[in-house]
Amino acid sequence: MKSRASAPGKVILFGEHFVVYGVKAILCAINKRITVTAEKKSDGKISIKSNIGNLTSHPNEPISKIKSPLRPFYYLANKIIQNHNTGIEVVVESDIPLGVGLGSSSACCVASAAAISRLFDETSKEDILKLAIEAEKTIFENTSGADCTVCTYGGIMEFDKENGFNIMKSKPNFHLVIANSNIEHSTKSVVASVKEFKDKNESRFTTLCDKESKLVKDVFELLKEDNIVEIGKKVKQNQEFLETIGISNDILREMIKTGQNKSFGAKITGAGGGGCIFALTDESNLDQTINEFKDKKIECFSVKIDFQGLDTF
Ligand code: MEV
Repeated sequence: MKSRASAPGKVILFGEHFVVYGVKAILCAINKRITVTAEKKSDGKISIKSNIGNLTSHPNEPISKIKSPLRPFYYLANKIIQNHNTGIEVVVESDIPLGVGLGSSSACCVASAAAISRLFDETSKEDILKLAIEAEKTIFENTSGADCTVCTYGGIMEFDKENGFNIMKSKPNFHLVIANSNIEHSTKSVVASVKEFKDKNESRFTTLCDKESKLVKDVFELLKEDNIVEIGKKVKQNQEFLETIGISNDILREMIKTGQNKSFGAKITGAGGGGCIFALTDESNLDQTINEFKDKKIECFSVKIDFQGLDTF
């Protein structure tokens, strides 16, 4: 028997990095997905196949011995097959660009937790999310859990570490144009560099957290009103805060300038240092925004909000 699950990628609309320090973030799931197929095997091994490589190992290895970006898959497979006396094969297919801040690793963790656990039991979304966050922590210990949460439930949500998430009832109808710098980044090291900034600039960082909190609160109201012009202004303000904490660079700034020509606003999404930016658009300026990027030979694509979240089949 095979079990399949798919989970969407995500965009952090507002609040990345500040969310690590307790500020609310606003995230949305996007209509690009990871699909994971899990199957029991009689060889007693854990085998993972993906477009970033393969891994075959015996169960019950200490997780620190698994020196592979596929470690979270091993963690999940090993944990879930305990007491079931079986091997397992996990196959991962992705239409989310990897390692560029669009939630590919969180979507992998969520879809794998669901596909593997459903080989044995019906598992609630809540328990799948817990497993996915545990798995993500094997590569990035300090994760806020925000990314896995939105990949599980879909839609648009506010999230903070203390109170968890709150899914918005309204369904805003904007498009995001995502532009990829193709600079790979490590979330872990960019988060560490922000911690360094914070430690050196305590009071400045506290002020920025307060400003970000206020901005996120305002945006939540604007989203309910579908006021895209004002939301665009907040996108630009949020980018200024991200510039201050040092996660931008010349390439990203140039991309943001291009994105802002025709859209309502553009900013980094996710950890920064590389990865992606997004430009906020609707039907009126979507094509023009895409053309702005294309004229500068910047790789881009448009996405809409995914309201489904984790899907099993
Ligand atoms: C990375 O997508 C988002 C960060 O805020 C880290 C996190 O929330 O765990 C940079």
